[in-house]
Amino acid sequence: MGATVTVLGASGKTGRAVAAAARARGLTVRGTTRDPGRLLADGARAVEPVAVDLATGEGLVEAFTGADAAYLVVPNVHPDEVGIVRRALRAADEAGVARLVYHSVADPDDRRMAHHLRKGEAEELLRAARPGTVVLRPAAYQQNLLPAVLAGRVEVPYRLDAPFSLVDLGDVAEVAADALTGRLPDGSTHVLGGPEELTILEVAETASRVLERPVEAAATTAEAWRAGPGAALPPSALSDLLAMFAAYDESGFTVDPAPLARLLGRPPTTWADLLTKETR
Ligand SMILES: NC(=O)c1ccc[n+]([C@@H]2O[C@H](COP(=O)([O-])OP(=O)(O)OC[C@H]3O[C@@H](n4cnc5c(N)ncnc54)[C@H](OP(=O)(O)O)[C@@H]3O)[C@@H](O)[C@H]2O)c1
Repeated sequence: MGATVTVLGASGKTGRAVAAAARARGLTVRGTTRDPGRLLADGARAVEPVAVDLATGEGLVEAFTGADAAYLVVPNVHPDEVGIVRRALRAADEAGVARLVYHSVADPDDRRMAHHLRKGEAEELLRAARPGTVVLRPAAYQQNLLPAVLAGRVEVPYRLDAPFSLVDLGDVAEVAADALTGRLPDGSTHVLGGPEELTILEVAETASRVLERPVEAAATTAEAWRAGPGAALPPSALSDLLAMFAAYDESGFTVDPAPLARLLGRPPTTWADLLTKETR
């Protein structure tokens, strides 16, 4: 019988990928969601859904009871990242979960981005309380750009020639599954960046070539983004994302690609690899 793991936010972009990778290793996977019915209907049938509201922590102890390991992933740009992690830690202690893995971000000490600093604070909290916690620090995912690219136009509110170490979420999820099964040393921290530095212009050029149809790259302004895609966001998320775009405009988001290749034991997925896989 394989181990049981609990993945927080299993209906989200990251949680789904991690749950799928854990399932592929033969683990029994419990996935938390505020709406278990939707998680089931969503096709994630191999995951046992457990009702948890991360904002209050309600349901966490039940979700963790009997689990050998837990994957802590907080909703994107959630203002209470530290509180969510604190409640998850308390519940994991109460339920006796032996192994914790925390989904952080590359450069959690980057002072330009409050949501990075919150992850840095959550890392500290976990290290102090549970020194064995494994921390994963991914760069921006290739998958963030995929829907727009497949639709033929990627528009971003930062310069098109800023470089990014875009990483495949599938590769990140493989490392997450390694961490959940104890294959990574206790207390270790891993930066997970993709194998190439790409600008948005290069992202679009590569996609045009691989997809054999035009894919356009376009820059918009922060003001236009705020009035468009940003208009429906809560103020804290808007402020976090505008700060992130300003940082991207200044320096892009690049990291050392070597650790991911070492962890995977094979060349990590390139942007062209992902596009080829998506369109097969
Ligand atoms: N995107 C990237 O490139 C990238 C890179 C590095 C790190 N990260 C980090 O990865 C983490 C996960 O991001 P993501 O985009 O995968 O997450 P996400 O899609 O926002 O998913 C998080 C899930 O949490 C659940 N949730 C539970 N309580 C919630 C609440 N009170 N408010 C909102 N959602 C709640 C939601 O599921 P239900 O609605 O079913 O409850 C949601 O599906 C973030 O912390 C982000 O910083 C992302």
